[in-house]
Amino acid sequence: EKGTYDHYMLKEINDQPAAMRKIIQEYQDEDENLKIDPAIIKQLRDADRLYVIAAGTSYHAGLIGKEYFEKWAGVPTEVHVASEFVYNTPMLSEKPLFIFISQSGETADSRAVLVEIKKLGHQSLTVTNVPGSTLSREADQTLILHAGPEIAVASTKAYTAQIAVLSILAQVAARELGKDTGINLMTELAKVTTAITAVIDDAPAIEQIVNEYLETTRNAFFIGRTMDYYVGLEGALKLKEISYIQAEGFAGGELKHGTIALIEENTPVFALATQERINLNIRGNAQEVEARGAKVCMISMEGLEQDGDTYVIPHVHEMLTPLVSVVVYQFIAYYAALHRGNDVDKPRNLAKSVTVE
Ligand code: M6R
Repeated sequence: EKGTYDHYMLKEINDQPAAMRKIIQEYQDEDENLKIDPAIIKQLRDADRLYVIAAGTSYHAGLIGKEYFEKWAGVPTEVHVASEFVYNTPMLSEKPLFIFISQSGETADSRAVLVEIKKLGHQSLTVTNVPGSTLSREADQTLILHAGPEIAVASTKAYTAQIAVLSILAQVAARELGKDTGINLMTELAKVTTAITAVIDDAPAIEQIVNEYLETTRNAFFIGRTMDYYVGLEGALKLKEISYIQAEGFAGGELKHGTIALIEENTPVFALATQERINLNIRGNAQEVEARGAKVCMISMEGLEQDGDTYVIPHVHEMLTPLVSVVVYQFIAYYAALHRGNDVDKPRNLAKSVTVE
């Protein structure tokens, strides 16, 4: 039930700190060690490469998951859009493990891949919010997101839960492979929970951003580099899905290879800077579009901020910033849709789960 909230989406954005706490609790034993089903650990140990299969927002979470598996555990990982993979299957490694990410566990495109790879005898793991869903029943193993039911068509808490659960899975993979990642993940996820709460408490300030940048525009761009680029893809999807503003996410470095031609006077550009390594580069990209008339909304993180930034999220571990920065984009999409008088929870032409290929 949405209770006192005006919309399910707003409730579900607000549910995220509780979902984080639940995940921390569910994936930890009494001694505070990360806890994952031994059968899944065996799958990870036996795999020489991970193939993450998903659609939409779940695909975007998979892109972040790849960073964890490769940077922490050193396991090569590919992320594929399910509907492409079925008809354009890449070369597979000798011992692939297929990880299906799906909030609903009912996405037909992902199921089509599962059916195919089962015929080939490959191992599968479904990461889903819905126990007993089709993808959960049909895969060899399941990891549950514990985000609670997600009703709004626009996915919010499932995305952050997917990233959190993938981070736990990747840490466990690293542990099993004897890699020291130098991070106490659960402590860092607890800090993330606090940071998400701070952003939620600051929703009125984010609504002001919408007033300033999105009231009349027909398009908007989201730029970032590395993980911030992936969050930009998700921010753009959220905005187009419910506000119907044409929105696209781009890698900051790609602008000069074509996209920058789209920039006109007052085109809104959301630029995200939460990674120290690329902080200056993305700011350079922001200046490039600003010089061509764009209205840049610079979103950065405490410790990396500069004078004039529009919004600064609280400081969290660099690998976990998507969990916090995306909440800003969720609110931006929510208020943009609300201000345009759209049906926030049930956008036109869309269904909550896409059960046809
Ligand atoms: O249930 P799933 O995670 O498999 O759904 C995948 C996509 O259909 C879904 O994430 C969709 O992109 C959302 N409506 C985006 O907000």
